[in-house]
Amino acid sequence: MADVLKGKTVVVFGASNGIGAAVAELALAEGASVMAISRSGVGPKGSKGVAVDVADLRALTCALEAAGEIDHLVYTVGARLGSPALSTLTDDVLPLAFETKLFSAVHAIRLALPHLSPNASITLTSGQVSRKYGVGSLVKGTVNAAVDAAGRHLAKELAPRRVNVVSPGVVDTSLWGEAGSEGRAATIARVSSALPVKRVGAPAELAQAYLFAMTNGFVTGALIDVDGGGLL
Ligand SMILES: NC(=O)c1ccc[n+]([C@@H]2O[C@H](COP(=O)([O-])OP(=O)(O)OC[C@H]3O[C@@H](n4cnc5c(N)ncnc54)[C@H](OP(=O)(O)O)[C@@H]3O)[C@@H](O)[C@H]2O)c1
Repeated sequence: MADVLKGKTVVVFGASNGIGAAVAELALAEGASVMAISRSGVGPKGSKGVAVDVADLRALTCALEAAGEIDHLVYTVGARLGSPALSTLTDDVLPLAFETKLFSAVHAIRLALPHLSPNASITLTSGQVSRKYGVGSLVKGTVNAAVDAAGRHLAKELAPRRVNVVSPGVVDTSLWGEAGSEGRAATIARVSSALPVKRVGAPAELAQAYLFAMTNGFVTGALIDVDGGGLL
């Protein structure tokens, strides 16, 4: 494929790093104009980087107004939460998880509504722990399950615009620690050995799923698992 997003405007939330950065890069490679939103405002070369904390609705409103007509909105923001068991859960973690990944996503979509093209797509991000249960997955699991549900409700409410959710398995990003750190390498090695494909995902592999959700006009209300078989 080449230039399948030519002439389209794509707004990626969480585009400074990891999965969101890979989505922004792929959208640029496919010919889109890309607005890359994050707190740092860093985006891939060729994108329009905008520094916004998604909790700041006023700043979010201004950024979306500056985007012009939006063809595709992609939301990949998520806080780095660790995997606390219930007994070690501090009172800031649940609100942070839900605010960054669900509440701000819903508000971003609401504020984008006046700017969405008639056939716009929206792609949210959840994660396999919405349906893979275990100690330490309570916070991520519940917020991801909420995102799964929000995607399907919004697919009905916003039709004929399309709304989908990409659900990653473990992907090698800074979510697991800084590049080169021992902790990240150990997590990646442990998870890899247990997966059918014997490795974790790369951000670029996830980006392909977002591109599919953006460009296939018959896909809406879908939950797209890209997890190396992690849910089996
Ligand atoms: N990586 C995995 O294994 C995995 C697995 C399942 C699900 N997921 C989900 O996939 C999504 C992306 O994960 P990732 O691994 O790519 O994470 P990441 O590398 O930590 O990237 C997160 C992005 O969100 C931005 N961000 C964080 N808080 C923000 C805020 N308050 N306002 C604006 N931007 C904010 C960060 O940029 P700034 O720091 O510059 O703001 C960064 O661009 C998350 O929802 C995560 O839960 C990931």
